[in-house]
Amino acid sequence: MASVSQKSLAIIGQGYVGLPLAMAAVESGWSVIGLDNSSARVEKLNGGQSPVEDISNETLANALQSGSYRASSNFEDISNADVVTICVPTPLDEKKEPDLTALRGATKSAAPYLKSGALLVSESTSYPGTLRNEVIPIIEKNRSTGSAHLFFATAPERVNPGDQVWNQKNTPRLVSGIDKESHDKAMNFYRSICDAVVPVETPEIAEAAKLLENTFRLVNIGLINEFTKLCGPAGIDVNKVVTAASSKPYGFMPFRPGVGVGGHCIPVDPLYLTWWAKQNNLASPMVELAEKTNTEMHKYVADRALALAPSHNKNARVLLLGVAYKAGVSDVRETPVSHLRAHLINLGHVVEWMDPLVTTWEDTNPTKELKGFDVAILAVDQPGMPIAEIQQIGIPILDCTNSFSGQSGIQTL
Ligand SMILES: NC(=O)c1ccc[n+]([C@@H]2O[C@H](COP(=O)([O-])OP(=O)(O)OC[C@H]3O[C@@H](n4cnc5c(N)ncnc54)[C@H](O)[C@@H]3O)[C@@H](O)[C@H]2O)c1
Repeated sequence: MASVSQKSLAIIGQGYVGLPLAMAAVESGWSVIGLDNSSARVEKLNGGQSPVEDISNETLANALQSGSYRASSNFEDISNADVVTICVPTPLDEKKEPDLTALRGATKSAAPYLKSGALLVSESTSYPGTLRNEVIPIIEKNRSTGSAHLFFATAPERVNPGDQVWNQKNTPRLVSGIDKESHDKAMNFYRSICDAVVPVETPEIAEAAKLLENTFRLVNIGLINEFTKLCGPAGIDVNKVVTAASSKPYGFMPFRPGVGVGGHCIPVDPLYLTWWAKQNNLASPMVELAEKTNTEMHKYVADRALALAPSHNKNARVLLLGVAYKAGVSDVRETPVSHLRAHLINLGHVVEWMDPLVTTWEDTNPTKELKGFDVAILAVDQPGMPIAEIQQIGIPILDCTNSFSGQSGIQTL
């Protein structure tokens, strides 16, 4: 059981960010309540079933058994917490603008239960000013009159689901408090669970840094996707170009082409930046163009794949391999393979898919049959994909992942 002297942490949102944080904190000696407004998720967690790949059922079960972790959907349970972190989704709305509904909702739900002296940290990604102008005013409006002094900080999470090297603990963490005391408390908290904590002068710098990191990736992926469209028609393998350029020891960083960008971060965070720019009567055309280039990449992929189909582009049967937004995860949020599938169907082709980590997708089930396809598109190199079998059947494969370069029957993007 958790000891009475254990420091108490409440984490709001038990997904890809919140659950690994919870397990890291348990490991570092914190007593953790994992808050989530999905009662189904809470039930699963308390039953020892992890909803994210980076946390095994065994790790979760150990944390539950130690008495240092439990999940709950009752916000009253945060009333003993010394530290409360918010790790809820910050997606885009239908206009592709920031949707802070979950962040505002979680903040409002927590406010009445924050104890005096508690530190509230927002880990959710958002535009500069979110802690100061969104989170804190909601807390001030809804807090209990008994919570004399509260502390506030931001510490944008950088976790990379499925990454075997960089995790919650060994990835340096940006931290900034709204005032000196908040800053010191937040630094101490993150020092207790992370190997390296990077102090940042203001919450706005930390929030902007997070957007810069992911916008940097979007723009560079956009550049390499554009480069791919230039090299392809000239018969130049762009991946070989990237590999050759990578031999330069300074001033170059390799990015690889693909079907587009997916997940909760790269396609989303840069649009928080473009929206924020517009609020300040400014523009970010380079980011907008990169976003457009990546969003349209599936059309080029479809053209390249259909050129390999023996049916000469008419009513082809296309097999999509890998539909998650990246390898090693089952997460299909914002997967660019959705655009590819819709585009191929619109062109009149028959599209089936398979992904060893995804059981259902877009209300469809994966194909069990590998025969009878004119072409296969390796969109995401998921572990366990039957590439050798598909090669043996003789189905041409367009490899968008640069995993099987030079193999018979396989063409790289
Ligand atoms: N997934 C990533 O790779 C990643 C990496 C770095 C940063 N982030 C950022 O971290 C934040 C969380 O992302 P995620 O991927 O963990 O999301 P997620 O969808 O995996 O998990 C979020 C959890 O929050 C719960 N939730 C939603 N609204 C709630 C509310 N009002 N109260 C309580 N619980 C609520 C959901 O039920 C869900 O379980 C986002 O801002 C995201 O941009 C994500």
